[in-house]
Amino acid sequence: MTEQTDFVEIRHAQKSFGTLEVLKDINLTVRRGQIVGIIGSSGSGKSTLLRAINDLDPLTGGEIWLDGVQVNKKLPHRQYEKHINAMRQQVGMVFQHFNLFPHMTARENVTMAPMLLKKISREEADALAREQLDKVGMLNRIDYYPSQLSGGQKQRVAIARALAMKPKLMLFDEATSALDPELVEEVNMVMKQLAEEHMTMIIVTHEMDFAASVCDRVLFMDKGVVVEEGPPEVLFRNPAKERTREFLRKHLEGAK
Ligand SMILES: Nc1ncnc2c1ncn2[C@@H]1O[C@H](COP(=O)(O)OP(=O)(O)O)[C@@H](O)[C@H]1O
Ligand SMILES: [Mg+2]
Repeated sequence: MTEQTDFVEIRHAQKSFGTLEVLKDINLTVRRGQIVGIIGSSGSGKSTLLRAINDLDPLTGGEIWLDGVQVNKKLPHRQYEKHINAMRQQVGMVFQHFNLFPHMTARENVTMAPMLLKKISREEADALAREQLDKVGMLNRIDYYPSQLSGGQKQRVAIARALAMKPKLMLFDEATSALDPELVEEVNMVMKQLAEEHMTMIIVTHEMDFAASVCDRVLFMDKGVVVEEGPPEVLFRNPAKERTREFLRKHLEGAK
């Protein structure tokens, strides 16, 4: 595939939980190396959309494609399990709440999935852990347990763990929202570094400045629809829709 191919394609995504429709005909394409930000109030469907990309919250309608393969294919159970495991290995996810295994050191957190799923040796996994932890500035904490790390450090280990699987796509769901303000920057720095390396990323965030500085495109979601999308300089400075303006205004007031 060339650089210009649509790498992630979400086509007419629809999701209902019972009678509650949380995604209403969402369409989104992300090219290889692009960084797309998603902003919007709580409850607008951002997390549901990210989870749908991995089929963790299967859509009730529409299609998700990654690198030319449909993720949410209808397959007999056994075949589906094999298919979805292979797809999920290509996508790294980092959530708001650090989901490190508490009884494992940073090293063990990073080596576990590659050893289990890619069947690489302990030596190889160890080299990989050192490489990835070094990348996020955590090599000097390699044998620390999560309880011995700050929130920002835990989140950096979580990123290293996701990167150790060599994902094609990284999804961040409010990765810095649970952090004390002084710890946000160290995590944002790691995401910026990934951006410079042209990692394809979809980033759900409440940090408008950060989104403006790293994203190629930003989507504003409200009540299950994409209200507006565009380059950050347009979406933040000169939005076309009143709903976007109102959201940004409220957000700015809240941040004061
Ligand atoms: N498993 C679930 N069952 C029922 N409703 C859900 C479930 N997950 C999310 N929702 C609802 O879907 C809507 C969108 O949620 P979510 O995607 O988490 O929004 P956001 O991430 O933008 O805050 C909310 O109204 C939420 O309550
Ligand atoms: Mg959410």
